Amino acid sequence: MAIYAVWNNKGGVGKSYLTFQMSCEYARQNPNKTVLVVDMCPQANSSTMLLGGMQDGETKLNEIHVQSNRKTISGYLENRIASPYLSPRTGATYLTHVASINSQVPNNLYLIVGDEQLETQASKVARATLPGPADAWRTVHLWVADLIHDIKTSWNHEDSCVFIDCNPSFSIYTELALSASDRLIIPFSADGSSKRAVKAVLSLVYGVQRLSTDPRSEFAINNEQFRLRVPEIYMYVGNRLTQMNSTSASAFKTVVDEIGDEIWGVWQTKPNAFCIHPSGAPTPVSKKTFKAMFQHEINDANTASVVSNALGIPISVLTSGRQTVSGKTIVVNQSQLDKQVPNIRELVEKIE
Ligand SMILES: Nc1ncnc2c1ncn2[C@@H]1O[C@H](COP(=O)(O)OP(=O)(O)OP(=O)(O)O)[C@@H](O)[C@H]1O
Ligand SMILES: [Mg+2]
Repeated sequence: MAIYAVWNNKGGVGKSYLTFQMSCEYARQNPNKTVLVVDMCPQANSSTMLLGGMQDGETKLNEIHVQSNRKTISGYLENRIASPYLSPRTGATYLTHVASINSQVPNNLYLIVGDEQLETQASKVARATLPGPADAWRTVHLWVADLIHDIKTSWNHEDSCVFIDCNPSFSIYTELALSASDRLIIPFSADGSSKRAVKAVLSLVYGVQRLSTDPRSEFAINNEQFRLRVPEIYMYVGNRLTQMNSTSASAFKTVVDEIGDEIWGVWQTKPNAFCIHPSGAPTPVSKKTFKAMFQHEINDANTASVVSNALGIPISVLTSGRQTVSGKTIVVNQSQLDKQVPNIRELVEKIE
């Protein structure tokens, strides 16, 4: 049982899309486990997909957001802002059972719904780290860990797996998400700016400085001071790779390899920042074995991905043929599904 944060400092790289696909596929492959998604992004994209997509999911999300007792991440955080240093142990009351709303999603999947109020709550959360007890910073950074702990307690600590979809910005709520996680999955897109974003992740979370004169992130410094763990790097995932022709395939490969080299460099100086998997596997000794363990690739499934996202149907159960999206008929080709479904399946098989 582990808690995975899905984060990259760059927007639009597929954090929410992969959270949706990975959590559904993990639940499908592991019917005896309970799966939890915590949506820590104010845009609530993974919640929308899980709750039924662009139309049904949005409608459901709006219904949840107007309830006086918000069953969302912000509902829980409001509870904690009122009780910053003592856990009210109310986390499980904020759960949503996804299949009760979207029957396309496996029955063993639960959600803490995302909420746009995260943005307005951020300053209140940050303020709570300042006054109060000497370890206020630490206690506040464990709020999401407390939430997950409450949920697991309500499940009698049954075997479970947790995915946290993060916002790209390194805001206080992203810090809380990272502090709650054991492991980090870093999606990136194969464009020039992804390398910089991955460097930012390494610097912000693990204190990997580009220059020795660069200031270290407060998060990295405080984690050391308050002895809080940071998630271990579990995998970095080149996402939306296109195989249209051999030129574009090799252009993508070059970018993916460059990012792989950057992370390989970190491995050589900070191997403790990584999570060897599966448990018991031998420690990689070469760049090749390192990449085999930590690097993954997910192809772009074009229309099939759009339909999966828009209708809230996990791609591994989406079938080829005609689908209706916003009143329009769209054809999903088997060849598109074949591009991505095996990638998702294999990636999830590597998630413990
Ligand atoms: N492998 C893929 N194939 C096709 N489309 C994809 C794939 N991955 C992501 N997308 C699409 O790319 C867009 C951006 O993805 P997504 O919203 O998941 O990114 P994000 O990293 O969560 O963005 P943000 O930083 O805004 O939270 C979405 O429309 C999503 O459906
Ligand atoms: Mg997102």
